[in-house]
Amino acid sequence: MELKRFIQELPKAELHLHIEGTFEPELMFKIANRNGIPLKYASVEELKKAYQFANLQEFLDIYYAGAGVLLYEQDFYDLAKAYFDRVHSQGVVHAEIFFDPQTHTDRGVRFETVVKGISRAMDAARNEYGFSSGLILSILRHLSEESALRTFEEAMAYKKYFIGLGLDSSELGHPPVKFRRVFERARQEGLKTMAHAGEEGPPAYVWEALTELGVDRIDHGNRSMEDDALVDELVRRRIALTVCPLSNLKLQVVKDLRNHPLKRMMERGLLVTVNSDDPAYFGGYMNENYEAIAEALDLSADELKKLALNAFTASFLPEDEKEYWKQKVHTVFQ
Ligand code: HPA
Ligand code: ZN
Repeated sequence: MELKRFIQELPKAELHLHIEGTFEPELMFKIANRNGIPLKYASVEELKKAYQFANLQEFLDIYYAGAGVLLYEQDFYDLAKAYFDRVHSQGVVHAEIFFDPQTHTDRGVRFETVVKGISRAMDAARNEYGFSSGLILSILRHLSEESALRTFEEAMAYKKYFIGLGLDSSELGHPPVKFRRVFERARQEGLKTMAHAGEEGPPAYVWEALTELGVDRIDHGNRSMEDDALVDELVRRRIALTVCPLSNLKLQVVKDLRNHPLKRMMERGLLVTVNSDDPAYFGGYMNENYEAIAEALDLSADELKKLALNAFTASFLPEDEKEYWKQKVHTVFQ
């Protein structure tokens, strides 16, 4: 109980969150009905029963199917606003949010529809709660480089809405280097960059994200721990890893949270953060992730504090805002 209250009161930043992964079954059915799109499942309960994943791909198949009911600006607004309402009540104060434009534009939904719906919800969260957020365009790595480049150039008409470029979807067989030119374009445009790497893929993919894409952060990065020289490099360059405990458990990246590398990562001096990834599918938002990993690894109050501070350090907030929130974290400890 004490632990729960403490986690609740910590001001938190979320740096690894896919907005399509916040699609709760109830809202999915509501939007599917209003858009006249049939779902493969008869009820919310039946859909939830399908949330058993042996690996990343099994999850992605269901996640893309769910996103297929989103058609209108209001749908994207409702999706994102529900996320902000939920995590505001958990003490999250800042979020850097991925969206997958190709998942929508490949179905004929206009880029503008997606961006306007999400950004209107971001504005509402700022106005209602003082919640700050940034949007990250994420490229689907199972699609071609050509599709990625086309998507990126289309996105540049809406550049003011974005803080960065990311890379997600099926990792194995799709090494970061495939997207070297897109990341080069993003850096030319002054965007921050990050890539999912080392979730299922080998340490070599994390190296590639660093050396070929020049990323500012690594999403997941679990398998970096298999390569000492890589860990040294990540520590030396203060590259943050956005770790997602419940996601790792649900996608069987770890078989048991008690074997999760998070604590060892911290002991090696890595800039580690805790995040929820796709909370509607993995059984928990930010606080549930903090609680689960704190219990499994018996984290101390100091370690939890460090994790909360790391998230602001690793965020793309302006320095003064980082400092403001870090002070607030220190205050919770007094
Ligand atoms: N990994 C890769 N792609 C994704 C994920 C993830 O954890 N979540 C949503 N798309
Ligand atoms: Zn992710």
